[in-house]
Amino acid sequence: VTSDLQYDAGGKGEYRHYMLKEIHEQPISVRNTLEGRVTADQVMVEAFGENAAEIFQDIRHVQIIACGTSYHAGMVARYWLEEYAGVSCNVEIASEFRYRKSHVFPGSLLLTISQSGETADTLAALRLAKTLGYRSSLTICNVATSSMVRESDLAFQTRAGAEIGVASTKAFTTQLVGLLMLVAALGRYNGMDKAVEARIAHALATLPTKLEQALKITAEIEELAEEFADKDHSLFLGRGDQYPIAMEGALKLKEISYIHAEAYAAGELKHGPLALIDAEMPVIVVAPNNELLEKLKSNVEEVRARGGIMYVFADKDAHFKSDETMRVINLDHVDAIVAPIVYTLPLQLLSYYVAIIKGTDVDQPRNLAKSVTVE
Ligand code: AGP
Repeated sequence: VTSDLQYDAGGKGEYRHYMLKEIHEQPISVRNTLEGRVTADQVMVEAFGENAAEIFQDIRHVQIIACGTSYHAGMVARYWLEEYAGVSCNVEIASEFRYRKSHVFPGSLLLTISQSGETADTLAALRLAKTLGYRSSLTICNVATSSMVRESDLAFQTRAGAEIGVASTKAFTTQLVGLLMLVAALGRYNGMDKAVEARIAHALATLPTKLEQALKITAEIEELAEEFADKDHSLFLGRGDQYPIAMEGALKLKEISYIHAEAYAAGELKHGPLALIDAEMPVIVVAPNNELLEKLKSNVEEVRARGGIMYVFADKDAHFKSDETMRVINLDHVDAIVAPIVYTLPLQLLSYYVAIIKGTDVDQPRNLAKSVTVE
């Protein structure tokens, strides 16, 4: 794997690690991703290529293919595409897609998501898909000179800047920004109400400030990390478009602190994982609503006697109160449409500070490479 350091002109600056620098760069990266591509009430379709409008008007289904963190971005996009754009969507891990007989729905866009644009499984899946009759291919990518950009009909540059840390952070949140813009762009040809596009445009325009605000809970997360550093396992729960964010939080913790972490759809706890819960198995709940939290509390209540505790990242306007069953970490209210992007930041910070306590190599975790260009 080519040394990542050669790509980085900026260095770590005052940050201890590239990953921490890149977590804190996210407001700027998102601002750069949005630059010249969103007006007060519209998303510019040209952001996806000069002939994007001509292609997008035929699109009724999106097949997303990616790996790792980029796959989690695709999982969020599926909820958005079906909820707001009226476009059906299937999301698949590239290493699965390329080895199965898949069906191409009419009017399908093949969408690859990749920070590097060189991931072997995703690139092979793109090349296979192009033989299967997709209407067109689009890649959302952070490297303009990469193979996926060269080999796709359309390309959206995430403009996150060089991402040196092996654990993907600003690439992920700028991918989500690009995906939300795609939702607005495709929705225009699938009956999406103009007011929804205006809501997306506004939520995106105000997102950098919301991210700056979210980063302000760093000190609280640093203190919280102490409670995780001696654990061997953890469970991340989320529902709807926050379920992929729970998956992303679990991946971050795994890959840089080496603590086993598993993500579950929140409703699944009682279908098995509850048996795992005790004082040694912290449960992190991402952005629950009131009804869901009440259910989870009663689930965990049963094991509180054995010390089970939930850590709940919540909207402060939900007015959830910490108690002996759960510790609530409040975030400022944000539009639900961008909540998955905002709630990613505390989970990135949590994994970072746990890894610091564990003394792992945060920027270059063991066994991992920044770009998996081999199978
Ligand atoms: C994420 O933190 C990891 N570094 C890894 O899962 C990564 O997202 C995956 O290898 C895909 O890489 P890509 O986005 O460059 O295709």
